[in-house]
Amino acid sequence: MSLIYTPIWFSTILPILQYMVLNFVPMMKATIRYLAGIAGPSGYGSKTTADQVVEDSLRSMPRPSAPHLTAIVTGATSGLGAEIARVLAKNGVRVIIPALYRELGKAEELKENLVKEYQEAEIIISEMDLCSFASIQRFCSDFLSLGLPLHILINNAGIMSNKLKFSEDNIEQTFATNYIGHFLLTEMLLEKIMETASESGKEGRIVNVSSVAHKWVDAKNFSFDKLLNPESYNQHRAYAQSKLATLLHAKELARQFKARKANVTINAVHPGAIKTGIFKDINGITADFLYIMTIKFLKSTSQGAATTCYVALSPMTTGLSGKYFADCNETQCSSLANDETEARKLWNQTHAFIQSRLLQPLGQHDTNLS
Ligand SMILES: NC(=O)c1ccc[n+]([C@@H]2O[C@H](COP(=O)([O-])OP(=O)(O)OC[C@H]3O[C@@H](n4cnc5c(N)ncnc54)[C@H](OP(=O)(O)O)[C@@H]3O)[C@@H](O)[C@H]2O)c1
Repeated sequence: MSLIYTPIWFSTILPILQYMVLNFVPMMKATIRYLAGIAGPSGYGSKTTADQVVEDSLRSMPRPSAPHLTAIVTGATSGLGAEIARVLAKNGVRVIIPALYRELGKAEELKENLVKEYQEAEIIISEMDLCSFASIQRFCSDFLSLGLPLHILINNAGIMSNKLKFSEDNIEQTFATNYIGHFLLTEMLLEKIMETASESGKEGRIVNVSSVAHKWVDAKNFSFDKLLNPESYNQHRAYAQSKLATLLHAKELARQFKARKANVTINAVHPGAIKTGIFKDINGITADFLYIMTIKFLKSTSQGAATTCYVALSPMTTGLSGKYFADCNETQCSSLANDETEARKLWNQTHAFIQSRLLQPLGQHDTNLS
C-alpha cells in the first residue's frame, strides 16, 4: 500500500507537514539557531551539556561535606534520567532513583558505578512503578519515612507505547505513566517540598519533562475520559496528548503555588530529540521516517539532559514558574498549553479521578476544586 493511503499519513505525517508550512519563517530561524548551537538569552543553546549547566549553577553555592540538596529523578535507570542523575550526583546532590521492580538490579549497578566514579555520591534506590497507584503510594511513604528534605522533583520517566495497553489501575498506559502517575507522585510529595523550601529558605523546584510533541494535539481530541480509555489508539497521538497534559499540569500547579505564596516553582521542558529507549516501540516506516527527519537534529544524551538541569538548578530560573523551556531557554508552548481554563479543568478532573480511585483524600492542601 502506498504511504499516502496509510493511517500514519493522516494521523502523523500530514499534521507535521501542515504545521511546518504554517510556521515556515520562525521555524527556519529556530532551525538555524538550533543547528549552529547559537546561545539564547540564558547564554546557553542546543549544544550546551548538563555538566556545563550544573557546574555553572552550583559554582556560587558553598560545597558542604554532606549533600546540600536532595532530588528525586524518575526514569533515571536509562536515557536522559540516568544522565541527569549522574550529573547531579557528581555535583554533590543526593539523588533518589525510583526504579521499576524489574530494573532494580540495573539501578543498583548504576549506583555502584556512580559511587565508584564520584566517591561522595549519595544515591538511594527505591522501587516504584508509575503505572500503579499502590506502588507510587508505597514509594512516597518509604521516602517520607526517611525524614530527608526534598528540594527538587524531576518528573522525567516516559514511554510511547506502540499498542493499546492498560495500567494496573486500568488507565491507558502512556497516559498513566507520563501524566497520571507523575500527578499522583507530585501530589504526595508537595507538602514535603513546601516544608523543605520554608525550612531551608531554598526555592523548591519541580520539573515536568514534556515534549515539543504537545503542539500536535488538537483541542477537540483532548478529552480526559478518552485519554483514560481511548476508543481508537495511535501511539504518537497518545504520547503527544500525555505531554500536553504534563505541560498543563505544570501551568496549573504553578498558579496554585503562587496563590498559596509557596516558595516552590514548577516548569515544563522539551529536552530535544535524543536517540534513547523512548523510541524502542516505534518500528517500520514511522521509525525510518522519524530517523531521516531528525538525524541532523539529534542531541547527545548530555545535551538532552541540559534543559532539565538548567530549570532544576540554575539561579537564572529563580522565581520562574509555569513556563516552558527548550535548549535551556524559555520558549513558546502551544496556545492549548497556555489555556488556563483547560489547565484548571484537567487538574480538577485528574485530582477527582485519583481521589475516587484511592477512596481517600489526596494530599493535605486545599484542592481548589471548582
Ligand atoms: N528522547 C527524546 O528524543 C525525547 C524527546 C522529547 C521528550 N522526551 C522525554 O524525556 C523523558 C526521558 O525519556 P528518555 O528519552 O530518556 O527515554 P528512556 O531512555 O526510554 O527513559 C525512560 C525512563 O522511564 C522509565 N519508566 C518507563 N516506564 C516506567 C514506569 N511505569 N514507572 C517508572 N519508570 C518508568 C524507564 O525505565 P526502564 O529503563 O525500566 O524502562 C526509563 O528509565 C521522557 O519523559 C520522554 O517523553 C524524550
